[in-house]
Parts: sequence; structure tokens; C-alpha cells
Amino acid sequence: MENTEKKLIQFSGIKPTGALTLGSYLGAIKNWKSMVEEYESIFCVVDMHSITIRLNPAELRSNAIEQLAYYIAAGLDPEKCTLFIQSHVAAHAELAWVLNCYTMFGELSRMTQFKDKSAKHADNINAGLFTYPVLMAADILLYNTDIVPVGEDQKQHVEICRDIATRFNNIYGEVFKLPTPVLPKVGARIMSLSEPDKKMSKSDDETGCIILKDSDDVIMRKFKRAVTDSDMCVRYDPVEKKGIANLMSIYSSFSGKSFDEITREFEGQGYGTFKAAVGELTCDAIRPIREEANRLLKDKAYLEEIYSAGAAKAARMASRMVDKVYKKVGFVKKPRLF
Ligand code: TRP
Repeated sequence: MENTEKKLIQFSGIKPTGALTLGSYLGAIKNWKSMVEEYESIFCVVDMHSITIRLNPAELRSNAIEQLAYYIAAGLDPEKCTLFIQSHVAAHAELAWVLNCYTMFGELSRMTQFKDKSAKHADNINAGLFTYPVLMAADILLYNTDIVPVGEDQKQHVEICRDIATRFNNIYGEVFKLPTPVLPKVGARIMSLSEPDKKMSKSDDETGCIILKDSDDVIMRKFKRAVTDSDMCVRYDPVEKKGIANLMSIYSSFSGKSFDEITREFEGQGYGTFKAAVGELTCDAIRPIREEANRLLKDKAYLEEIYSAGAAKAARMASRMVDKVYKKVGFVKKPRLF
């Protein structure tokens, strides 16, 4: 029986649209991991969310498996967490449809991510992009989730999830638990190294984005080229010194040091020294993860075993919620089909 100790539940996911970035690691996975002992933990590879943009099918498939390997390599122990691939659990699509009918056109139109993405992909503003937050709400609500650890940019999506759940509960009684977004204290929003006013994203720029697959050499090179300023002082100022503030966040996330401590450590030293230090710390932290992921990726049977067991467990939990919701809205009880 899952959740026998009645731990609170954490649920989160990342889209397998590309290789995992340093931003996803520091802004999400590292934070998830820190809460695995305390929470019943469910982590998803959200492949269904990925297809709102056109992707190469073979790449999507290999990214999804690779992402699972990186989840495990980064320390999400499959013995302690449920790890699965979203498209393997039909309940996500089932609940998303119902929730679509309890979500307003107006509220979806106001979502920042929809506005940004539809401006960026003006030739493909599909309905999936528009209802993306509804599928995400289904992901979260299916598992009686208490907390959703996410990066800053996803907070609005957890808020609309609460609004949808509240609207549904007001009609049918206490069906859904209201989830709370949890942002990491440091590293919630890792920015691009080349354009530090933009989120670190593989699709936006290659040079400013560190991916976990990058070799040490590539990582060091990207840090050396990171955009800074002409002030020459390692001091935390996320408005005037965005580049340095971002490097300090990365350094702080890996070292646990405060911004003041970092300023003192690099007092009187040039940016070159600081950038190299951030690069080395990043390499040291990521190298074992990359090596373990590569090892796991050679054992496809093991990965298949993990995602199959994860999907079976997730489907068991999720189908209970779907049954409850279907009953509430007035669907005839599902017969056993096979
Ligand atoms: N929208 C999230 C992102 O782009 C990914 C996601 C999908 C997610 N479903 C989720 C995150 C449920 C947390 C919970 O990062």
C-alpha cells in the first residue's frame, strides 16, 4: 500500500524537449531530492506536455529515457520515489479533458507562458499550447499532491491548478486537495550565461545554457564566456549585475555558501578567477551524475523496469481519482474492459 505513513505528497515533472539543463537541475531536481525522505515523492517525465511544439519523434523518445536516467543518476532513488513517464498513465489525459470543462478561456489567455510561447511559435499556436496548464493541473490533482516543487516560471501554473480545483470542489464537494508551489530558496531561476536577463534554456541559446551532458571542457568554456559587467566586483545585485548575480546563485547552490561569504571569498580577485571557480564547482557536481547516467543508459532493461513499475504504481493511484471525478460529474461507472 502506498503512503501508509501518511507522508505529505510532492509531485513534479520536467518536459523531455531537450537534454536536461543546469537550470532544471538546480531549480528543480536538486530541490526535489532534498525532500524525498520527508515526502511521498512522485516524479514524472512529462512527454505529453512536450508535443505542444514540433519535435523529432526519435529525439523525444530518447530524451524521455535519458531524462529518466538523469533523474536516477541525480539521486532520485527509484526505491524511494515513483518515477514514470506521463503518457504511460492514461488518467492524465482523462482528467485533463474533464478539467478542460471547468477552466475558462479567459484565465488560460492570461497565462504568461502561453503569451510568451505563442509569440515565439506564431506559426503553431495549437490548442494544446493553450490548454497546457489544464494537463498540468491534472498531473498534480490526480495524486492528492500537497506540494509542487517548481521553478519560479511555473508558479502561475500551480496557481491556476488551485483555481480549477477550487472551482470543481465548490460544485462537487472536497474532491481535490489544493497544492502549494514550493520554490527553492536559491537557484529557483537560473539564467542564461550569455543573456542573463533570460531563463537558461536550451532552445533559446546553446552558449548560455549548460546541459548536464556537457563535458567538463565545454562547461568550463561556457563559464569563461559568461556575460558579466565592467564593475569588477563579485557582489550580489540581481538588477544591476544580472550576470554576476546568476553566477553567484550557481556557486551558492553548489557550495551552500551565502552571497556575503562568496563576496568575501573573491574580494580583490578578477571575474576570471570567479568564473573559473564557478565552472570547477559545477563540473565537480555534475561529473558523477553524468557518469552514472551514462552507465544507466547502457542498461535499457533496467530503465524499462523502473518506468514500468513507476507507471503501474502511478496508474493505481490516479485511477482512483479518475473514478471519483467521473462519478461526480455523472458518468456511468466504467465497466471492466479486459
Ligand atoms: N510545466 C512544467 C515546466 O514546464 C512541467 C510540468 C508539467 C509540471 N506537469 C507538471 C511541473 C506538474 C510540476 C507539476 O517546467
